[in-house]
Amino acid sequence: MSLMREIRQFRVPARSVAIWWLGQNGYIFKTPEGTLAGVDLYLTNSCDGVYEELNLSRLVPIMVAPDELDIDVFACTHNHQDHTDPETIRGLRNKDTMQFVGPHPSCRVFRDEGVEEGRVVPSWPDCEIEFRDIRMRGTFALPTDATDLNHMGFVFEFGGGPKIYVTGDTDYSELLGSAARHAPDLLITCINGGFNNLSHWEAATLAEQIKPKAAIPCHYDMFPDNSANPKLFEAALRLKAPGVRYQELAYGRPLVFGL
Ligand SMILES: [Fe+2]
Repeated sequence: MSLMREIRQFRVPARSVAIWWLGQNGYIFKTPEGTLAGVDLYLTNSCDGVYEELNLSRLVPIMVAPDELDIDVFACTHNHQDHTDPETIRGLRNKDTMQFVGPHPSCRVFRDEGVEEGRVVPSWPDCEIEFRDIRMRGTFALPTDATDLNHMGFVFEFGGGPKIYVTGDTDYSELLGSAARHAPDLLITCINGGFNNLSHWEAATLAEQIKPKAAIPCHYDMFPDNSANPKLFEAALRLKAPGVRYQELAYGRPLVFGL
């Protein structure tokens, strides 16, 4: 069975969320009512060859092809191609049933790739968006380079149950700790340290500020020239945030996170 069908059929217990990792910062979340949200879904190899100096050929297999993707909310944290991928969006077959959420530069890509205006939902730090039983709050993120100055993260709340903070790509700033006001239960954080993203050590510092129950590392696996060892984050958590449980996800396998 295809992963997308598995996800559609998966039953999520009350006060829980099911999480599937598709590599890099790409996740699909499912609520007990069956609402599906995706964040930063990079489902092509479009970054390959963008920079002559860097090997950005994808290492993680494509588990859901763009034309198979069937979700309700397609969210992007910023307009870098491994997060807002024009080729992924171009290939979606279900554009006319999804909400597309992201900061304005991502919204421009949505429109350019044929998403109708009524489905484009601009977002920004501190915004609040509700769709069925999912509430999204925008969080602060510090841009990592001058090619895009509109980075943000999201705290997703699923059916009044668990809250998940997805940092998106961000440089370190004490202001990242402002996401603590939403009391997230789970932190999904970049840890690669490359190109000004949080390092494993900075991500653990953030975990200590936010104090979630658990933290999942991401954005360390997709490209040969932007990889890191997640075990460094596990060790840093033990030292900096001993109350935060380390959680690693396997690709395409559901993790049920409940309260
Ligand atoms: Fe990225």
